[in-house]
Amino acid sequence: MKLADNKATLSFSNGSPSVEMPVYSGSIGPDVIDIRKLYAQTGMFTFDPGFMSTAACQSAITYIDGDKGELLYRGYPIEQLATQCDFLETCHLLLYGELPDAKGKEDFTKLVTMHTMVNEQMQFFLRGFRRDAHPMAVMTGLVGAMSAFYHDSTDITNPKHREIAAIRLIAKMPTLVAMAYKYSIGQPFIYPRNDLSYAANFMRMMFATPCEEYEPNDVLVRAMDRIFILHADHEQNASTSTVRVCGSSGTNPFAAIAAGVACLWGPAHGGANEACLNMLEDIQRNGGIDKIGDFIKQVKDKNSNVKLMGFGHRVYKNYDPRAKLMQETCKEVLAHLGVQNDPLLKLAVALEKIALEDEYFVSRKLYPNVDFYSGIVQRAIGIPVSLFTAIFALARTVGWIAQLNEMISDNDYKISRPRQLFVGSEKRDVKPLVQR
Ligand code: CMC
Repeated sequence: MKLADNKATLSFSNGSPSVEMPVYSGSIGPDVIDIRKLYAQTGMFTFDPGFMSTAACQSAITYIDGDKGELLYRGYPIEQLATQCDFLETCHLLLYGELPDAKGKEDFTKLVTMHTMVNEQMQFFLRGFRRDAHPMAVMTGLVGAMSAFYHDSTDITNPKHREIAAIRLIAKMPTLVAMAYKYSIGQPFIYPRNDLSYAANFMRMMFATPCEEYEPNDVLVRAMDRIFILHADHEQNASTSTVRVCGSSGTNPFAAIAAGVACLWGPAHGGANEACLNMLEDIQRNGGIDKIGDFIKQVKDKNSNVKLMGFGHRVYKNYDPRAKLMQETCKEVLAHLGVQNDPLLKLAVALEKIALEDEYFVSRKLYPNVDFYSGIVQRAIGIPVSLFTAIFALARTVGWIAQLNEMISDNDYKISRPRQLFVGSEKRDVKPLVQR
């Protein structure tokens, strides 16, 4: 970051002296006002719940222009990465800053592939869960438990440990998600097969059984790989910020990523894909396309607390470029499987059309986000709805770990410790029990 030409001046109406604050520019995007000395200079904090106007860090990984609907990983547009690269190339880019050349790709693929198995003991930990546990509950536990299995990569201050932890996490997440799934349906775990691509290996671990091999299908594998690429990183979203805050205490990488998994679970974030599919199924059960009008009415009613899941985004106020790519994949997968007449897809298309024309959504700049279509694709591939968010977690792991490692390698990093505007009781004395 570099100093901008101008400075910011904060003045007060009560005559307190005004303060000047430096302004910094990044390579693209809005400038930032550096308020780090504000408290020392004025005795005041800034107030920004939800981080509406706060840049909490500097980062060189992912850039979003919400007005243009632009998403760049290390400068490359998501549209080009999704159509010209595979997920492991994207992981290399996010982790190391550059796309690999052919040799680099081969080496990186080998490196990740060598770590796809998990410690055999982990399955006993997994077996402690109820079979009907939500996969995200299981994943939060399994990822956190990795710190108990891989002691030689838990020192966050050691760059080698950080790199090994990153590779282990990226390599083992598909194995763990597939294990969580197999456990929930009572089937034996399927070990990884390292001659397959990252996405094909994941699908095989999900769908093969010891008595029947799974033949990876190119169209479906490509769709899965695209889901991974589109979810790989998204700058300082809630779960990534959680990983950074958690990691800022110096905790080990597996613990920090487990915190990210827990945050992602919420329906306003990664849980939206599951919530969106559940919403479509609900509408379908309650009358289908003919009842969309009633549903939209509920969404617009402030007192109903009903949201159109898969719509809206804190940053994208034009369109979500990931949604466009996901919509393409959705069409390709449904055509390939011959299920274009899927009633949920028809419902989704009708809902989208109404919402895009409705004044409520137009005036609030609410557009479909990536989750609106990813659920339909995953369901068509045969993935159960309850596993959608775990697949998001699998894909986002590279973003989390790249952002965590970026933070730790930054000499300026400090433990995250926000302040507050206290509105509770002033100091008072405890009365003896008989007088209360
Ligand atoms: N349906 C109906 N109304 C909505 C929706 C929605 N999906 N999203 C926002 N609004 C309304 C909201 O009620 C508010 O209205 P008003 O100004 O009258 O009070 C206005 O739009 C602004 O919304 P906000 O809640 O202030 O916006 P936010 O930036 O705090 O929230 C969001 C962003 C993604 C949490 C929200 O749009 C939402 O809950 N969407 C549904 C869940 C969803 O699809 N989440 C996935 C996000 S993309 C994947 C990811 O990155 O995790």
